Amino acid sequence: MSEGKETIGVIGVGWVGLVTASCFAELGHPVVARDIVPEKVAALSAGETTIHEPGLDELLARNAERLTFTTDMGELLERARLLFVCVDTPPTRSGDADLSRVRAVVEGLPEDGGHVLIMKSTVPAGTGEAIRRDRPGLAYVSCPEFLKEGSAVADFMHPDRVVIGADGGDEAAADALARLYAPLGGEIVRTDVASAEMIKLASNAFLATKISFVNEIANVCEEVGADVGEVARGMGLDQRIGPAFLRAGIGYGGSCFPKDVSALKMLAGNTGYHFQLLNAVIEVNELQKRRVVQKLLGRLDSLVGKRVALLGLAFKPQTDDMREASSLVLAARLQGEGATVSAYDPVAADAARELLDGVELCDSALDALDGADAAVLVTEWPEFAELDWAEAAGRMARPLLIDGRNFLDPEPLQAAGFEYEGIGRATADSPAPASAD
Ligand code: UGA
Repeated sequence: MSEGKETIGVIGVGWVGLVTASCFAELGHPVVARDIVPEKVAALSAGETTIHEPGLDELLARNAERLTFTTDMGELLERARLLFVCVDTPPTRSGDADLSRVRAVVEGLPEDGGHVLIMKSTVPAGTGEAIRRDRPGLAYVSCPEFLKEGSAVADFMHPDRVVIGADGGDEAAADALARLYAPLGGEIVRTDVASAEMIKLASNAFLATKISFVNEIANVCEEVGADVGEVARGMGLDQRIGPAFLRAGIGYGGSCFPKDVSALKMLAGNTGYHFQLLNAVIEVNELQKRRVVQKLLGRLDSLVGKRVALLGLAFKPQTDDMREASSLVLAARLQGEGATVSAYDPVAADAARELLDGVELCDSALDALDGADAAVLVTEWPEFAELDWAEAAGRMARPLLIDGRNFLDPEPLQAAGFEYEGIGRATADSPAPASAD
């Protein structure tokens, strides 16, 4: 069944680990995936998916026979030589990456078993060198992950590039990894470990910079009556700029950009280098989340006693991930201004429940909009484009919509009786927001 393909070991079955495990199984490899959380291992062994990711359920079901989930490190080390380390590296309070889980894994690996440690977790540049120094008997390859939540399976199967970083003595391990990824067709970038680590952090920081840049352009567009969608389209056609990641909105969130921008800033700071630009990227993103509140205040004067509906809670569509979601800051700010907040998200309600104190979570968008004085579109779920907006207008106390993702077509909404305002979008009824500070 597996046509003699090499067994893959995966350590840490979170987003990256589970996608990596299922995709290698789909490519025909037997996979042993180990996690320390017994409940997670039990659920996956019983065929239940632990995260919401398009296409993943099908992959897990189709490849169940090739996939073993276990808590037993011994079983993994016995069966697999290539070990993908996919544990998380969350930010510490100071903004540095917390490497304790990576360290715990590395310390548990034998140096004489012929294993190859393949680092998928995002780690500061210099981590690989330190591990190689401490554990000289282990082959070490850096292979950062670039998949996006919501399209992780497709990203794995069709990578833009696969970065493989190895230092002296580990070339054979890097060759083995390159062979593993060859069927996927993306360009293989062979480099040293430190450069591979920096490619990951620099890529995420650059994408976050692009978003904060276009968000500031959007804010200026509002002042001069320009439309950021038109501006981004015109800019994006310049091949040196490119059209991707120029969508203005209420800021980036998720488990990666906020963490990695801060980790790169701290990494630079720890060497004595002040990465000035990234401070601005972070600050713009924080202010952008709050800007919607200024827009609402500009129209409603006061939010005391007003009801505001949030459409979408997850940090982006096609995921139930609430980490660093703009909705968290927004809901708290609205409540701070005296508003009551209702909300609807097609899949993130369970994940959101414990994070959103005092927010009424509804079963449908129309329920959330019922009696609301304003609505904010936070996450661009496709179902919001299909909503019966005329019915929504009738249900709201005041049909006012702030489109935090510039997702909806303003004209039909305005025809349905809505006051519509996007982010940096030229629409007939957009007054300039009150000052954000
Ligand atoms: C990001 C990177 O895109 C992946 O390449 C990387 O592998 C991943 O981080 C990681 O380091 O693990 P992800 O966080 O899943 O992926 O999500 P993105 O699709 O990049 O979106 C991040 C945030 O930026 C979202 O809140 C999204 O709404 C926002 N965004 C994105 C914008 O506001 N404007 C845009 O034009 C694009």
